[in-house]
Amino acid sequence: MTPPADKTEPTSQQGYITLCPADELPSGQVKLFAAGSHQIALARIGEDFFAIDDVCSHGHFSLSEGELDEFDCTLECPKHGSLFNLRTGEPETLPATEPVAVYPVRLHGSEVQVELPRP
Ligand code: FES
Repeated sequence: MTPPADKTEPTSQQGYITLCPADELPSGQVKLFAAGSHQIALARIGEDFFAIDDVCSHGHFSLSEGELDEFDCTLECPKHGSLFNLRTGEPETLPATEPVAVYPVRLHGSEVQVELPRP
C-alpha cells in the first residue's frame, strides 16, 4: 500500500522568515542578520528592502560593512570596492566577477521577512 502524500511540505509562503521590524532599519542603512545557515545583508532604500548574501564573492569579506549607494542601488565591498547590484547580486565593477545570492523580501505587517532557499 502506498503511504499518503506528505501534506506538511512547506510552501514558498512558509519559507519566509522574519529578520526584524521594519522601523529597526532606517533608510540608507545596511544590517547583518544570521538566518538559518545564511549570513544576510539587509539594506533599506526608502520603503524598499533588499536582502543579499553578506559574503563577497571575491574575497569573503562582509558586504554589510560596505557603503550603500541609494541612488544606484548598489552595495560596495569594503575590501576592494566592487559594487554589487542589490536587485540582482551581480557585481557591476571589478575585481569581483561572480554574483552573490539575493533573496526575496516582503513586508508582513510591520516585519521584514526574507525567503530562504530550501535546503
Ligand atoms: S573582497 Fe570584495 S571585492 Fe575583493
